[in-house]
Amino acid sequence: MLNFTFSNKTRIHFGEQQISQVAKEIPLSAKVLITYGGGSIKKNGVYDQVIDALSEHKVFEFSGIEPNPSYEKSMEAIALVKQENIDFILAVGGGSVIDASKFIAAGALFNGEPWDILAKGATVEAAVALGAVLTLPATGSESNGGSVISKLSTKDKLPFMSDLVQPLFAVLDPNVMNTLPIRQLSNGVVDAYVHIMEQYLTYDVNGKIQDRFAEGLLLTLIEEGPKLFSNETTTNNNTANKYQVNANVMYSATLALNGLIGAGVPQDWATHMIGHEITAVYGLDHAQTLAIVLPRMMWEMRETKEAKLLQYADRIWNITQGDTQSRIKKAIEKTEAFFHSVQMKTRLSDYNLGEDVVDVIIEQLARHGMTQLGEKQLVTLEQSRNILLKSV
Ligand code: NZQ
Ligand code: ZN
Repeated sequence: MLNFTFSNKTRIHFGEQQISQVAKEIPLSAKVLITYGGGSIKKNGVYDQVIDALSEHKVFEFSGIEPNPSYEKSMEAIALVKQENIDFILAVGGGSVIDASKFIAAGALFNGEPWDILAKGATVEAAVALGAVLTLPATGSESNGGSVISKLSTKDKLPFMSDLVQPLFAVLDPNVMNTLPIRQLSNGVVDAYVHIMEQYLTYDVNGKIQDRFAEGLLLTLIEEGPKLFSNETTTNNNTANKYQVNANVMYSATLALNGLIGAGVPQDWATHMIGHEITAVYGLDHAQTLAIVLPRMMWEMRETKEAKLLQYADRIWNITQGDTQSRIKKAIEKTEAFFHSVQMKTRLSDYNLGEDVVDVIIEQLARHGMTQLGEKQLVTLEQSRNILLKSV
């Protein structure tokens, strides 16, 4: 096992009616900025619950944060935070709202041009306090220090990490999932699944605990994920069952990227870096890009990942017969079939994209210095090209 230091400061309030906890979490003296997206929270009652909980607080609002949140929109919020001396940000939404809020929290106290945090890796030295009410289980952003922001003018989609922007608390009420469109439920299951794979499917360092945690999460998503889409779960007279399915998927997505399974083991993230470029240029949803890239990444890197691929085939899909190549091939087919079972497509051509995409994405990767990706830096532009060509 590799050396590691692990802590997770985000206090999780999980379950029904837990949104009321925000009242106790945010000091009464704070000037609070509630940040949110395009309005789903107004339709499903989450906004009302937050406003009720904060009835004693001084509250400001900032709405209109887009999926794949932009630098441009975030800068408007940064101006508001500075103008009103906001000292607590409450992000109410999915990964995009939470990610934007992290950038806003850091950018408002940054000495200089906030984009440098992403483009130049400038250190975040201070950030406004942040909490989150999660409405879409997918990214894990509610209890990690990561954020991904897009600059629309230049088609850059870049990540940054800082402990200072990790939410102090996060509310996870599985009932918020009841209004999610199918597309976002699919995105959530697939994003969480691929987060686990990025931390699991590398090389063996005897991280037995991390492996078993990761496998437990994968198996839970395989068992519960498809139920989100089945008639049996979605009919109204089955609310108790639906709640349990939502709860298990929601908690899986949080644990998939809260630092736990990645501590003490190598991490990959090549699928994510290629996926971000596809979103930046062609606008596909984040998880849609992952479902396209991951199966081809697994095949392209099968030699360096061989031991873990065989372990994955065995422990997740019970594939134990046949030679190495055929077991790996079957495991990849099972993975892709699982994505299909949660109504996710897995080809560029499913989105009317063809081979001409390849050069464009390779150019983006080169421009961003993404020329040696993965746990052993073996995903060069040549590998990325092969992966993309086979993903059409
Ligand atoms: O904007 P509103 O109206 O709220 O609608 C949103 C949005 O259109 C809607 N939605 C959210 N909760 C809802 C709901 N609709 C109905 N009922 C609800 N309860 O869903 C749409 C998508 O939301 P978004 O926040 O964009 O989705 P997601 O949570 O998948 O976040 C994706 C973003 O997170 C980044 C991605 O790159 C992408 O930009 N990621 C962040 C990570 C992190 N911080 O750790 C890691 C990930 O790998 C990822 O890169
Ligand atoms: Zn992701």
